[in-house]
Amino acid sequence: MRRCSETFEAEMTPAEQEFLQSLIRDRNFTGPHLEIGTAAGGTLCHMMTCFKDQTRPKFVVVDRMTYFPHQQETVQENLRRHGLDPRTVEFRTQTSAQAFRDAQQSKDQFDFMLIDASHKILAVMADLRWTRLLSVGGLCCFHDYSPRFPGVKLSIDRFLSQHDNYEIVDVVDTLLALRKTGVCSSGEVSLLDSAYSLAMYVPLEVDRKLAKWRNSKKKVA
Ligand SMILES: C[S@@+](CC[C@H](N)C(=O)[O-])C[C@H]1O[C@@H](n2cnc3c(N)ncnc32)[C@H](O)[C@@H]1O
Repeated sequence: MRRCSETFEAEMTPAEQEFLQSLIRDRNFTGPHLEIGTAAGGTLCHMMTCFKDQTRPKFVVVDRMTYFPHQQETVQENLRRHGLDPRTVEFRTQTSAQAFRDAQQSKDQFDFMLIDASHKILAVMADLRWTRLLSVGGLCCFHDYSPRFPGVKLSIDRFLSQHDNYEIVDVVDTLLALRKTGVCSSGEVSLLDSAYSLAMYVPLEVDRKLAKWRNSKKKVA
């Protein structure tokens, strides 16, 4: 069982939560805000409470809601505990990949994004496509941007090396904030990027499983 399913807490450090809230408050965007991967909704509540009910922009959550049993009900209960009405959140209970296809077709645009779903390289590279739907001047935050999560780190470093229309705002603990400074002429994730993530997937999974095995051996010893 995931700890947050009982504590309702955000899966972020206090410094990351503070940073996220300061970004949201300072920019005070009026366009839609998106969270991809919400767990128990702890961070969602922190983000939404940056606004008064009357002025809060639309919040969209994409999550397949299989992180723990009754995940969506837990998120809704968490919102209520924070004085937030769950009916004001647009839940897209889908995989990020399916939700992206739908959002692209509907020509959705977001002023603020928090991407924190699967940390595997194939998924992170695919999630980077969401930045295509970010308004110019908008912010995109990525959680677990750290060598501990090579799938996240490698994908984003590659992305940044190829796109000069994104600038780093700051990194606090493992929360990275990027600002989109202009439209991307060639599309955010190319076929080569997808091929790179496919090629890296197996070696990274082998590394991850070996590290897990070594840790379990250490615990037994
Ligand atoms: C690390 S947790 C998110 C933590 C949350 N942002 C917070 O700060 O508390 C990852 C979440 O992503 C969701 N998720 C993982 N892979 C996904 C996918 N491919 N599509 C949609 N949601 C996914 C899981 O269900 C889970 O709720």
